[in-house]
Amino acid sequence: MLLVMVVGAIPFEPKIGRKVGRAHRWGDPLIRSPVGRDADEAEKDGGGVRWAVLVAGSQGYGNYRHQADVCHAYQILKRGGLKDENIVVFMYDDIAKSELNPRPGVIINHPNGSDVYAGVPKDYTGEHVTAANLYAVLLGDRSAVKGGSGKVINSKPDDRIFLYYSDHGGPGVLGMPNMPFLYGKDLIEVLKKKHASGTYKEMVLYIEACESGSVFEGLMPENLNIYVTTASNAEESSWGTYCPGMNPPPPPEYITCLGDLYSVAWMEDSESHNLKKETIKQQYEKVKERTSNVNNYNTGSHVMEYGSKEIKPERVYLYQGFDPATVNLPANKIDFERLEVVNQRDADLLFLWERYKKLEDNSFEKAKLRKEITETMLHRQHLDGNIEAIGVLLFGPTKGSSVLNSVRKPGLPLVEDWDCLKSTVRLFEVHCGSLTQYGMKHMRAFANICNNGVSRDAVEEAFMAACNGHWIEEYSSANRGFSA
Ligand SMILES: *[C@@H]1O[C@H](CO)[C@@H](O)[C@H](O)[C@H]1NC(C)=O
Repeated sequence: MLLVMVVGAIPFEPKIGRKVGRAHRWGDPLIRSPVGRDADEAEKDGGGVRWAVLVAGSQGYGNYRHQADVCHAYQILKRGGLKDENIVVFMYDDIAKSELNPRPGVIINHPNGSDVYAGVPKDYTGEHVTAANLYAVLLGDRSAVKGGSGKVINSKPDDRIFLYYSDHGGPGVLGMPNMPFLYGKDLIEVLKKKHASGTYKEMVLYIEACESGSVFEGLMPENLNIYVTTASNAEESSWGTYCPGMNPPPPPEYITCLGDLYSVAWMEDSESHNLKKETIKQQYEKVKERTSNVNNYNTGSHVMEYGSKEIKPERVYLYQGFDPATVNLPANKIDFERLEVVNQRDADLLFLWERYKKLEDNSFEKAKLRKEITETMLHRQHLDGNIEAIGVLLFGPTKGSSVLNSVRKPGLPLVEDWDCLKSTVRLFEVHCGSLTQYGMKHMRAFANICNNGVSRDAVEEAFMAACNGHWIEEYSSANRGFSA
């Protein structure tokens, strides 16, 4: 029934932000040759080692931008003097060699950008890009790592750690290319454990994902010597940029977005400053301004901060290193131009559409893609419809959707009982199929079912009634794995 109802209306026009966003004036982060650390540097930062963990949480050419962000971040750190042995990279690594990549073996993160892929250490790729490996790496627990290079953050008490993550997310979760997702509560537990082990001085986390604030909101302690900024607050999208058909566009042969708004904001900021002069606070403020789309939050997001604010006066180079080529750049000056953006969740539709347009009419390929686009749209509508029906079954027609969508007060975590959230997600996936990258947006509905103390039996009955096996086989959790 539901299926029949949604087939009639397949709106297919990705929502594209036409508003502000801004691009860096001089644009291209040209790669300069790596140079060694300054002699005075070790003295100033107490002799500690800089470590970094870089994570791209997605896969697929339509998600090009997340891996491009992470490769770009690696180049910045490398030029800043961090050593490969201290940088751990998680990326699926299916972009450079994709048949859709117009420049084989090359990844760019800016319309005029040069290659950011060369030299990136392939520590954890493909099936080894998992939340469990990320936790083991952060904890320096080599024996818990499965596959990959085995490189872990083997840090000492004087060391500093920089973690940067880019991908899709949803309330309380960050995506991973292999199931399950990363859950906020688990990440915070790992950070607490790392703190208890006394194996770092301070840590800075930069996180880009939709609703990324919700991973830390009400959870992140202020006494772990960890400072976090996120691309968005707990209830909004983050944005892809440098997308086809937008301003500024990627080179015409690209059918996918090259970057993400918050990510390019911090990286282009780092590249246009002497990081021995710029403070974490200054970078936060610049990135917040740029990511907000000059206070137009319809196509921008609220950069948030969590954790130990006393780290903010420190210079950025303590985490990202120092590139001697930047020595004469001013402490805090950056001009922006307008940047057009696309909602993270619509970027894959934009990609499919761009690909579709380029295919020859009446070709087999085009018919195949038409089917893929239709199925993608159907799956989305189906998921949204299922959640709506579940709301009605559990809380009644007048309150269903408001209960499921209600946002808790700032300072409260998404959900009180994270185990309940996970088991509810699993139950949903048993009866309703895989949540998928798009379905992450419904995490708040499951959280609110838990927050309202609905019995498991009632929840299961509602899931069974609403979904009733009407999902497409391709989306079964047996095929795709469980996201919790
Ligand atoms: C790319 O380079 C061209 C030529 O120098 C310039 O006109 C354009 O503004 C640059 N694009 C961006 C986004 O910086």
